[in-house]
Amino acid sequence: MSKSFNVAVAGATGAVGVEMVKTLEKRNFPVGNLRLLASARSAGKTMKFRGEDVVIEEMTENSFKGIDIALFSAGGDISKKFRKSVVDAGAVMIDNSSAFRLDPDVPLVVPEVNPEDIAGHNGVIANPNCSTIIMLVAVAPLHRAKKLRRLVAATYQAASGAGAKGMDELVTQTRQLLDGQPIEPRAFAHRIGFNLIPHIDVFYDNGYTKEELKMLNETRKMLHDDSIRVTCTCVRVPVLRAHSEALNLEFADEITPDEARAILAAAPGIKVVDDPANKLYPMPVDATEKYDVLVGRIRQDISRDDRRGLDIFVAGDQVLKGAALNAVQIAEHL
Ligand code: A2P
Repeated sequence: MSKSFNVAVAGATGAVGVEMVKTLEKRNFPVGNLRLLASARSAGKTMKFRGEDVVIEEMTENSFKGIDIALFSAGGDISKKFRKSVVDAGAVMIDNSSAFRLDPDVPLVVPEVNPEDIAGHNGVIANPNCSTIIMLVAVAPLHRAKKLRRLVAATYQAASGAGAKGMDELVTQTRQLLDGQPIEPRAFAHRIGFNLIPHIDVFYDNGYTKEELKMLNETRKMLHDDSIRVTCTCVRVPVLRAHSEALNLEFADEITPDEARAILAAAPGIKVVDDPANKLYPMPVDATEKYDVLVGRIRQDISRDDRRGLDIFVAGDQVLKGAALNAVQIAEHL
């Protein structure tokens, strides 16, 4: 008889939680019992899993008895509050928040990048930042072949990064703006309809945002190389749920676009979409609801005198590979 696992989804009603439940079903994860947890506001409502109604429960310290794997996506404060209950119950927490990502005793994992780190867990495994996941799925195979030295990124991040309320706000606000009605920004610092906002998470004294420094610190942790230099500008754009990124990469060794295409085509979790003559390149609408990260616009960096620089453009579903799918893939490795 094949083994099954009792799974809890904490934050099951959120943008990511809903996709975690769907991804468990779609990938035939061997779920024994499924427990759906959210706030008291959602308790008593139901969600479908494998054609059956599962009642949503309010998350409490007692929610994790008998659970093997707890997928968390209810925000960092909730993860911190319930970490002890999960670990004491003998379950493994796979946490989508940034609460524990840089803790030395918590592996930070993208299965295509550093699956070997999962083995060192002490009851908690962190899911990286969504933009970092999408970036590293594309960058890690190139790094393995040519050793990444420096990375300059600009992100184009979807409204889904702010959860279900972010997506709702984009849709509602777009409609209100078209109808000439007044708008009230809530999920974002400014209006997101027909605009973009170079501000994701809080600002630090050095002028960077927390989101931008996550890209630096999480990259170094997952590639096990603190000498890699990363700078980036993270921008919220009026796209629903797939993030895109323009990446300038500098390697220790020479690399040509053809070599890069061959390396990327052979790597897991990637679809090379790079045929500009036929107007084929990564776009967020094409990445939406897809498991693979799309990689294209692969070209030699002409600002350099050598062949150690590349420019690429990537797009990946923030809710899936950037969050729910990555968490379920970690569970599969467990
Ligand atoms: P609820 O829908 O009951 O508020 P998103 O990131 O899309 O906004 O989703 C956040 C998720 O976290 C939702 O499932 C939400 O449940 C859940 N959540 C928020 N606050 C709490 C809380 N205090 N206890 C448990 N779950 C919570």
